[in-house]
Amino acid sequence: MDKIVVTGGLGFIGSHTVVELQNEGYEVVIIDDLSNSSINVLDGITSITGVKPIFEQIDLKEKDQVESFFKRHHDVKGIIHFAASKAVGESVEKPLLYYENNIGTLVYLLKELKKLPSACFIFSSSCTVYGQADELPITENAPVKQAESPYGNTKQIGEEIIKDTCKVAPNLKAIALRYFNPIGAHESAKIGELPIGVPQNLVPFITQTAIGIREQLSVFGDDYPTPDGTCIRDYIHVVDLAKAHVIALERLLKNKNKERYEIFNLGTGKGSSVLEVVQSFERVSGKKLNYKIVGRREGDVIAAYADTKKANEELGWKTNLTLDDALLSAWKWEQKIRS
Ligand SMILES: NC(=O)c1ccc[n+]([C@@H]2O[C@H](COP(=O)([O-])OP(=O)(O)OC[C@H]3O[C@@H](n4cnc5c(N)ncnc54)[C@H](O)[C@@H]3O)[C@@H](O)[C@H]2O)c1
Repeated sequence: MDKIVVTGGLGFIGSHTVVELQNEGYEVVIIDDLSNSSINVLDGITSITGVKPIFEQIDLKEKDQVESFFKRHHDVKGIIHFAASKAVGESVEKPLLYYENNIGTLVYLLKELKKLPSACFIFSSSCTVYGQADELPITENAPVKQAESPYGNTKQIGEEIIKDTCKVAPNLKAIALRYFNPIGAHESAKIGELPIGVPQNLVPFITQTAIGIREQLSVFGDDYPTPDGTCIRDYIHVVDLAKAHVIALERLLKNKNKERYEIFNLGTGKGSSVLEVVQSFERVSGKKLNYKIVGRREGDVIAAYADTKKANEELGWKTNLTLDDALLSAWKWEQKIRS
């Protein structure tokens, strides 16, 4: 089977994607510098799939290490590039760290891929590129808005870099996947999300509150123009998301792509409010969540959910798991890591 490199493969979305790739029989080589993950994730992946992926501890900011990796692995057929820094707030404080880690590393990788006979490249992008879209649901044709943070900007610039490189590198084909809000964990509770410090995202905050690590969940604003006044997002189960990567990769490997650079939204198509997520969590966990409504948080868009038509019809992928499934898996995972 083809050899696939997964950068950031010990992280949240990367680890779930490695599992799905191995389930489909691919030979996986993980690159990760462990800056936001743990080496124990390798055991989780191995325990789920029965196969230990090859792991190389490499910092992609080190150009020499990237070059030497591809000298050793010149038979690579595909690269799924998850490795990046992703904390929006931190990116405002440390923009250069984000431009170096999210843009510099991408350039080093693409330089090496240009040298291969052929390469299929999948890039982790984000619905953050749409900002507050003028129309909902959001299609891939919605305009890219001025980024609200250096992190968001790295996704926009990253997409442009890939598009420009595909124009001049006939051996390269690429797909940018714009994720909506990935949540949940593997049903085995052997891998999941491992936020360092105070979680930036809603679901880890909910599960940490329920288990007693956080005292209370703050719901930022209930006066938005939405049915219950709280913000609306498109929460997608990480396992559904991981499977989309395998399908996107196969599209490129089997030459089913229509253009050499393509973009797909990955979401469920259904928006859920913060309070609906809280209710779903309470339903599946049987626990009452301690939360309070506080003022709005700067930078939050009111509502964002995907138009999934292109992913459904063109990519041939759709979500199978529900919000309840995702929250139950996240809750099982939280209990497992605290036991
Ligand atoms: N989680 C989300 O909500 C979300 C939403 C949209 C897009 N994304 C994007 O998806 C990708 C994966 O996100 P995630 O949630 O799995 O993040 P994560 O932090 O869990 O995983 C990223 C992994 O990359 C590794 N890494 C970071 N810099 C590296 C470097 N220089 N060299 C080698 N490894 C490095 C980290 O150690 C980590 O294991 C990122 O590009 C992120 O921006 C995530």
